[in-house]
Amino acid sequence: MAAIDDVIKYTENNRDKFEEELFELLRFPSISSDPDSTEEMNRCAEWLKKNFESFGLSAEILPTQGWPVVVAETAKKSDRPTVLVYGHYDVQPVDPLELWNSPPFEPRRAENGNVYARGATDDKGQAFTHVKAAEAWMKAGVEPPVNLVFLIEGEEEIGSPNLEDFIREHRERFLADAVLISDTSQFGRDLPALCYALRGITYMEFIVTGAKEDLHSGMFGGIAPNPAHVVARILADMKDPNGTIQIPGFYDGVKAPEDWELEEYEKLPWDFEELAKQLGISKLSGEREYPVPVRKWCRPTLDINGVYGGFAGKGAKTVIPSKAGAKVSMRLVPGQDAERIANLFEDFVRERIPEEYQVELINYQNSPATVIPVEHPAMQAGKEAFAKGFGKEPLLTREGASIPVVSFFVDEMKCPTVLLGFGLPDDNLHAPNEKFLLEDFHRGIKTSAHFLDAFARIEK
Ligand code: BES
Ligand code: MN
Ligand code: MN
Repeated sequence: MAAIDDVIKYTENNRDKFEEELFELLRFPSISSDPDSTEEMNRCAEWLKKNFESFGLSAEILPTQGWPVVVAETAKKSDRPTVLVYGHYDVQPVDPLELWNSPPFEPRRAENGNVYARGATDDKGQAFTHVKAAEAWMKAGVEPPVNLVFLIEGEEEIGSPNLEDFIREHRERFLADAVLISDTSQFGRDLPALCYALRGITYMEFIVTGAKEDLHSGMFGGIAPNPAHVVARILADMKDPNGTIQIPGFYDGVKAPEDWELEEYEKLPWDFEELAKQLGISKLSGEREYPVPVRKWCRPTLDINGVYGGFAGKGAKTVIPSKAGAKVSMRLVPGQDAERIANLFEDFVRERIPEEYQVELINYQNSPATVIPVEHPAMQAGKEAFAKGFGKEPLLTREGASIPVVSFFVDEMKCPTVLLGFGLPDDNLHAPNEKFLLEDFHRGIKTSAHFLDAFARIEK
């Protein structure tokens, strides 16, 4: 019997154990954006370290300027390739809590086969598939065909501000022949996806101040500056009704998808009406001259994430706010430079601030887009892994969202990166009732185990 058969058998014999461990991992409220979660973050990292050690990997928790990183590895052998597995143990906040059907950090297995918990799919559940595949290889009585290095960080949901420096500092440890990541989605149920491109992101906030305090709108209306109007005007200026962004230079250098990509997108089993229905809207929005898949994956965007200023409580209050502001994120595509976009945004805002107002700008995030060459052998291994682990050939997709460190792996480390999507598009990432289909958790484990086998064969 081939080694991989023993490994797969191990995964089948340990389904209950794997689920129990996943549930333990999901119990940690490891919310990276909350400065008060030091204890929970450390306990979660510690639990992961112990889990790695429980099946024979050497593991350690390494500090960064922010939340700690968990690193685990097999003994390095020179006769086999190295796979670096990346994932994140931090999760998004849970608000609005009242919309959850069960507490977010008390994982609940439902009749429909899902586990409900914050982090179920993003990214604890998905990352853990690779941990359990490693266990299966280590414990099946056969030798893993690759050297494994795990890098599980705690700051992805806040933009991975310290990870690149951390990797550079420990460069030797993270040199690999391929990077393996599961932090994306399938195309739909039973439609696993190999993702080859992510959008980047520039995230901005601007705060406009008028008078030094809120003012009575009867006493001072007519002579007082109103920053809420300035914010409203600037935001309205940013996009035309078709959704085309009006910031000068914003589209400079934007690379259009290639013909083969457009052809592939045509073949995917889209259902735009169903998608609109799922979202509770009558039709999809956006730039009419582009097909939906291009709007969703290949075009840069600008979205207001929040607007504030003045009175928004119950009833009416006649007031002229002293301050108003907005948070705006822009999704970027290849050919756009994130810092340049931040500067263009800043110029656009500053030019529109009348003399009697002040403005402050904050740039939270700059991450470039990534396109991964689809021709490298690791991609081939990914296809083979899905075919065996899921019983389905994967679809080749892009994603509109971002994983900040990926461009660093691809463009700076020049490392073939494989994004195996095990989650579903309706898993409620970042929202109430986040979930993960347990069957996909198990199929993910098998797919990961097969990936290591296939990659080792292909690399030889
Ligand atoms: N796992 C997501 C990214 C993702 C979601 C990829 C769905 C593909 C499908 C990741 O954890 C995430 O939320 N990224 C943030 C990055 C931001 C905080 C810099 C995003 O895209 O908003
Ligand atoms: Mn994620
Ligand atoms: Mn996320």
